[in-house]
Amino acid sequence: MTIVLKLGGSVVTDKDSPETVDDDALSVAVEAIATSGVSDLVVVHGGGSFGHHHAATHGVSTTEGTSDAAGALAIHAAMKRLNDAVVSRLQSRGVPALPVHPLSLAARHDTDEGNGKRSGDAALSLPLDSTETLLGEGFVPVLHGDVVAHAGRGVTVVSGDELVVRLADGLRAERVGLCSTVPGVYDENDAVVDEIRSFDDVAAALGESESTDVTGGMAAKVRALLAMDAPAHVFGPESVGPFLAGESPGTRIDGR
Ligand code: IPE
Repeated sequence: MTIVLKLGGSVVTDKDSPETVDDDALSVAVEAIATSGVSDLVVVHGGGSFGHHHAATHGVSTTEGTSDAAGALAIHAAMKRLNDAVVSRLQSRGVPALPVHPLSLAARHDTDEGNGKRSGDAALSLPLDSTETLLGEGFVPVLHGDVVAHAGRGVTVVSGDELVVRLADGLRAERVGLCSTVPGVYDENDAVVDEIRSFDDVAAALGESESTDVTGGMAAKVRALLAMDAPAHVFGPESVGPFLAGESPGTRIDGR
């Protein structure tokens, strides 16, 4: 049964200096994956100091697009450099990782325009044949936040979180893990919530009920994870190993 694991951009990169891998943090995550014995695994990573500053420079977000090919390439190329670092590090520890670049696969169409839904959620098409076949052949596909074709807008950003939701549903994943710099979802008293079964459980702590946050704030993240068919776990960098071992570190989010 497939496990989808996202490594947050701020975990594997040094967010304060452009295009810098956080070697120690990446090593901890890679070591946990390499020693877990989990083989049916898809890894997704975010942008951190590779994607976000190029995206900001070129004015591109999940909703604001660009038709400037050079700008789009700058963002994509930076993400590929980070992906290369993650994939090679995994391979060097014996994990059969291979890159899967969303720009080459995915597209967005604004079929949901006007009904108040977030752009992208209903409109992202991400064919999974390549990922699924790689998995079947024993590889560990490694996807990443990227720019993707967006009908009428050039290219826009697809976040790693959005890819995780697509992958989890499309691959009928058993479990989903999101490793970020925080140890879980916090309640109003800054204590980590053990389990979230509905948005009401954390509405008070996370604020608004109708999310307008398209950039991956915690409220939007929790809503998207609650809608998945698989349980998700949000945890800190030290908990990749326990998560892959079947434990339930951080916050368990299960809207089923
Ligand atoms: C961002 O991906 C990708 C680009 C900016 C191209 P994410 O939104 O998943 O990245 P993190 O995890 O927040 O850094």
